[in-house]
Amino acid sequence: MDPSSSGNYDVCVVGGAGHVGAPLAIVLAQKGFRTLIYDLNPQAMERLQNGELPFLEEGGGPLLREVLAAKRLGFATTPEGIASCSYIIITIGTPIDEFQNPMLGLIQKCIDSLSAHLSDGQTIILRSTIFPGVTDWVHQYLRGQDKRVHVAFCPERVVQGYSIRELQTLPQIISGATPEAEESAARLFSALAPKLVRMAPKEAEFAKLFSNAYRYIQFAATNQFYMMVETAGLDYHRVLAGMKADYPRLRDLPGPGFAAGPCLHKDTLQLAAFANHQFAIGYSAIQVNEGLPAFLVARLAARYRLSEMTVGILGMAFKADSDDIRSSLSYKLKKILRNQAKAVLTTDPLVDNDRDLLPLEEVIGRSDLLILAVPHSAYQDLNTQGKPLFNIWNG
Ligand SMILES: NC(=O)c1ccc[n+]([C@@H]2O[C@H](COP(=O)([O-])OP(=O)(O)OC[C@H]3O[C@@H](n4cnc5c(N)ncnc54)[C@H](O)[C@@H]3O)[C@@H](O)[C@H]2O)c1
Repeated sequence: MDPSSSGNYDVCVVGGAGHVGAPLAIVLAQKGFRTLIYDLNPQAMERLQNGELPFLEEGGGPLLREVLAAKRLGFATTPEGIASCSYIIITIGTPIDEFQNPMLGLIQKCIDSLSAHLSDGQTIILRSTIFPGVTDWVHQYLRGQDKRVHVAFCPERVVQGYSIRELQTLPQIISGATPEAEESAARLFSALAPKLVRMAPKEAEFAKLFSNAYRYIQFAATNQFYMMVETAGLDYHRVLAGMKADYPRLRDLPGPGFAAGPCLHKDTLQLAAFANHQFAIGYSAIQVNEGLPAFLVARLAARYRLSEMTVGILGMAFKADSDDIRSSLSYKLKKILRNQAKAVLTTDPLVDNDRDLLPLEEVIGRSDLLILAVPHSAYQDLNTQGKPLFNIWNG
């Protein structure tokens, strides 16, 4: 069936041109659901319609083109199309405001924009990462408008860039404001995920936030150890390798490096806001992770005359093999270095939305000192032309 001619869809993904929404929409379409992407970003929509993902996603491009050819994917920049859908999945961003509190108004605004087109019996699935209590609040809010829709919360827990694979391999947490909402969401996700884990909405909201905060705290632990050992004049990578060798209880301890991006820090702050900002371990993790760029610059300043040097930063994305610069600590590093070095040059093989970036060879050629800020695969066999390279990731 061609949804673009009939205008009828099974599922609408709201925010479906984003990092969470687009892979989900593509996988749903591949599983046979007539899927509508509703998003407010016309540039991203245009790229998707042309068969091109607006960001890196393993296996995403070919699958997108496959479902476009099968005419199972449609696009809308206004919400009317949701009227025909049994399922409406909300994947919009849920940022933190200037007071470090979640911007709950964005979810309300989104629901308000959909409300006129909702009809009884539809299921709204919240998939954005939300503050504890928001699912029940949305349920009550819509009941207050006499909307008899089912409201569920089924969080996204994939690692960015590998959603297509992980959507089909990770267990999916399912929760609903009512048993009918939970059942309805379970029916949809049983077509995607190998296993469903059922929880109450608030439990699921905490579980998602804890998943990210715990990962962030793990990175902070290793980064704190790194700073301590380096300050003591030792090589942390030797300590790490030694303590992890065949020792099962430290299997999960990551290596040191920049821990940032659009989710981990933000979701740690969502929990802090929930706890009335009494979240000592979360704030300590922020202090450590966000303090790492300044620590590195201080180490370099102790070793080199930075004011006479051009420093090249290799990697500006927030993590390896990603093109996403949201909340990347490479930019914090750049800002700090700008006040101390003669000049700062930046490069990244994957990022395409930063006009300051230069080709790798030029950065290496013009720099006196290089910093590997992101261990992209493309940097594996780096020829630094004899320039000193500071590499936190690998000693
Ligand atoms: N990025 C990840 O890997 C990841 C993983 C798990 C959970 N999450 C969570 O998922 C949510 C989305 O994150 P993201 O990285 O996909 O964000 P994103 O910014 O990449 O995507 C959000 C999309 O929503 C669209 N949008 C915003 N408001 C809208 C509205 N009212 N109506 C229609 N479209 C709207 C935007 O145009 C954008 O395309 C966040 O809550 C995030 O914390 C993200």
